Amino acid sequence: MSVISVPQAFNEDELYVDLRSIFGYPLFLKCEGFNFAGSIKLKAAAEMVAAADRDGALTCGSILVESSSGNLGVALSMIAASKGYRFVCVTDSRCNLSTRLLMEALGSEVHTITEPDPAGGFLGARLDYVRALCASDDRYVWLSQYTNPGNWRAHYRTTAPAIARQFPQLDVLFIGAGTTGTLMGCAHWFRDWHRPVHIVAVDSLGSVTFGGSPGRRMIPGLGASVRPPLLDESLVDEVVHVEETDTVRACHRLARRGFLFGGSTGTVVSAATSWLARHDADRLTAVAIAPDLGERYLDTIYQANWIEAIYGKGVLRDDADVPVQTGRQTAV
Ligand SMILES: Cc1ncc(COP(=O)(O)O)c(C=O)c1O
Repeated sequence: MSVISVPQAFNEDELYVDLRSIFGYPLFLKCEGFNFAGSIKLKAAAEMVAAADRDGALTCGSILVESSSGNLGVALSMIAASKGYRFVCVTDSRCNLSTRLLMEALGSEVHTITEPDPAGGFLGARLDYVRALCASDDRYVWLSQYTNPGNWRAHYRTTAPAIARQFPQLDVLFIGAGTTGTLMGCAHWFRDWHRPVHIVAVDSLGSVTFGGSPGRRMIPGLGASVRPPLLDESLVDEVVHVEETDTVRACHRLARRGFLFGGSTGTVVSAATSWLARHDADRLTAVAIAPDLGERYLDTIYQANWIEAIYGKGVLRDDADVPVQTGRQTAV
């Protein structure tokens, strides 16, 4: 039995899905969505707020402010409510409606940026807005997930050792890159471990994190329009870029088997299965990290009209990917 008195005290860190029967490759998916914030970002949020509390940066009149595509915002909303702080989340128009409503239900204020910055995209515009807020009133405390070392330290302390405990023979680890907090925390930890682990960073096509040209990205979580300052590429062995249509296909393939995961999980699983197809998969122990669950994406990734409007017809072309509508399988 677990008994808690604050919501951030609970997190399921030991749950994996064996994807062999769904994708045909030995791949264990670490599920990070089972906590009251619904995502892996609870770990970074808890670590950053605890550090700010310890350092005396937060006082009773403080207003937390953060730029987030959603999940960190939900986690901070939850922690702020639990600790009695006000929280302002600066997001952009790609943030799912349900995520925004969740933050508001937890008592946070949500400011949505609708115009990308010509050079820095939506992220650049969000960061400018946060800087302007902080300059306007010194009660604002910006945790700055893109530069805060607590972001990667959370995963160095928790995520990586949790994986190593369950998979002492781990060979390859697939990790999505947003702020790169998860990637850097795990990569640092496994670099210090007793045996080599191949660290594969997963990014969405159109992200500039690992170089490459910027392009349209509609699925929040992974990718960045500005290079993340936490990233140290020397800790990454390989990078796999994934097209959003492949993300959507992987999500639907999982959903057809009863596992409703978020968009970044589809991206990571798509990258991992294509990587395993090119390697001697049966001799490898492989783990991928699933940052959240699918309910926040019901009106996007799991909505046939949205898929067709964004990506055109025929994205879900295999039987395994096609959503069931009115009791039959229908191509979109
Ligand atoms: C759904 C989802 N996946 C992946 C990530 C990326 O994690 P990180 O910021 O640690 O790179 C995020 C970050 O917000 C996310 O919300």
